[in-house]
Amino acid sequence: MTQIFTLTLSPSLDSATTTAKIYPEGKLRCTTPIFEPGGGGINVARAVVYLGGQANAIFPIGGPTGEHLKELLDREGIHTETLRTQDWTRQNLHVHADNSGEQFRFVMPGARLNEAEFDQLVERVHQIPAGSILVISGSLPPGTAIEKLTYLMQQAQAVGLQCIVDSSGEALKACLDVGGLALVKPNQNELSALIGRPLDNPDDLRTAAQELVQRGAAERVVVSLGPQGALAVDRHHCVQIVPPPVKKMSTVGAGDSMVGAMTLKLAQGADLIDTVRFGVAAGSAATLNLGTRLCSLEDTQRLYNYICKSSQ
Ligand SMILES: Nc1ncnc2c1ncn2[C@@H]1O[C@H](COP(=O)(O)OP(=O)(O)OP(=O)(O)O)[C@@H](O)[C@H]1O
Ligand SMILES: [Mg+2]
Repeated sequence: MTQIFTLTLSPSLDSATTTAKIYPEGKLRCTTPIFEPGGGGINVARAVVYLGGQANAIFPIGGPTGEHLKELLDREGIHTETLRTQDWTRQNLHVHADNSGEQFRFVMPGARLNEAEFDQLVERVHQIPAGSILVISGSLPPGTAIEKLTYLMQQAQAVGLQCIVDSSGEALKACLDVGGLALVKPNQNELSALIGRPLDNPDDLRTAAQELVQRGAAERVVVSLGPQGALAVDRHHCVQIVPPPVKKMSTVGAGDSMVGAMTLKLAQGADLIDTVRFGVAAGSAATLNLGTRLCSLEDTQRLYNYICKSSQ
């Protein structure tokens, strides 16, 4: 089977805690924090493994927070390839306020990558066997010029990697400008920002996705639509996959679970429709879980079977 690699340029060590109520000045006593790995590509690799596949997560780590992050992934049995950085891996903080049920997410700036450190990551990408899938997901670290990402993408294409991109803003634009991506997964807002116009109705959405395919930016464009599922386009198909109604607990991790599931299907040689059915199932499966938890295989398989049956 095709090998899967993921690249996370701005990983994080996420900590989650609970407090009775959030108010200024006084001490907010919190419960013992629970630590979790964070960062787009890292979560995509975790989702692939939860769904029964194998993935190698490549990411920079620095300082004790970086060591902790790697240890959490080792414990989950995720294969990691890390590169040391001078700057320490960031630590994000999620606080649940018991009185209101609100979730506060404090997100720190990512660790900086100096020139030599970035070059090492590019060098690592260069060593990935041709034909493998490389998922690039998440934000760019502060201080990393967009041209650096363009260069990394060009190198990945030159080696013959099938690139899957889940990003936003300038980084998403830069990857699409390099062109030839195997798959890109913007959500509706990300696609609208990229195209520079509102995408209010299904026709606008389809046209925008088709434009990307026609200009060779990506072979497959999957626009995720939250509870409405996803619209998938390639040169021969245009299809919307709608998940069954589910009892949503938290949508955190839905996008990463979806990308993980689609990556696994593509690695197995599945066609577009089957790939997106499994992706939508995994995204919706992730919403059944509280907090940042990703999809489980059992929920994904159940929703996937339902989607397959209902479209026969
Ligand atoms: N409220 C929901 N109910 C059911 N399924 C959902 C819901 N929200 C998301 N999903 C599922 O997860 C997939 C991805 O969600 P979404 O479109 O919100 O991606 P995203 O904006 O990239 O998410 P993220 O915030 O994780 O980056 C959807 O295609 C859908 O299958
Ligand atoms: Mg997303």
